Amino acid sequence: MQPRPVRIAPSLLAADFARLGEETRAIAAAGADWLHLDVMDGHFVPNISFGPVVVKALRRHTTMPFDVHLMITPADPYLEAFAAAGADIISLHPEAGAHLHRSLQTIRALGKQAGVVLNPATPVSVVENVLDLCDLILVMSVNPGFGGQSFLGSQLGKIAALRRMIDAHVAAGGQPIALQVDGGVTVATAPRCIAAGADVLVAGTAVFGAPDYAAAIAALRGPDETASSPHAKGPA
Ligand code: DX5
Ligand code: ZN
Repeated sequence: MQPRPVRIAPSLLAADFARLGEETRAIAAAGADWLHLDVMDGHFVPNISFGPVVVKALRRHTTMPFDVHLMITPADPYLEAFAAAGADIISLHPEAGAHLHRSLQTIRALGKQAGVVLNPATPVSVVENVLDLCDLILVMSVNPGFGGQSFLGSQLGKIAALRRMIDAHVAAGGQPIALQVDGGVTVATAPRCIAAGADVLVAGTAVFGAPDYAAAIAALRGPDETASSPHAKGPA
């Protein structure tokens, strides 16, 4: 069987915030597939990062897909602003609003790809009835809010369960869905995520904290995986 291509989405949260444009260009040049942008409101999660203004400012620095992870509640009133700012993928947590199905419809109606993020305690069943609206499912392998936390191995079973669910969905004629993991992804934990079925790895500290971004990205991709073309668009 052909190895599944693994995409690497460095999380800007671990970049130098005084030089975000430069960091964005550097990570694109280093072979990152997507840029993961963590939006935090100090309410849904106990930390504050940045909003659509920053996403918009970075948009002119790269053509790399922007993978926007919203850790805000409510999220619905801001979807349009993030779409207009240049997000390509917008992911939200089901706990951030009362109507996940409607939120995903809104993102799709804005012409963007839609993602659902599962916290460590959130069950897989949450996405079961909205698979047709998902372009991406993100498994949090830490509690959201901060970079640099330790990987929760308890989430590997969830990744495997979602891999089976997605494969069955695609086999039945459904659209492709990327399976992403976020939190504590390192050269030690990345192979476990890939073996469980993840095909997009988010990594903050392991990339922006490394002296050589290109080497860090290549190391996370792993020796056995097919290198995807830089900036490959979308989850297919
Ligand atoms: C956590 C964020 C992550 C974070 C990952 O709330 O969603 O994207 O930046 O950072 P590392 O890779 O350092 O765990
Ligand atoms: Zn994230």
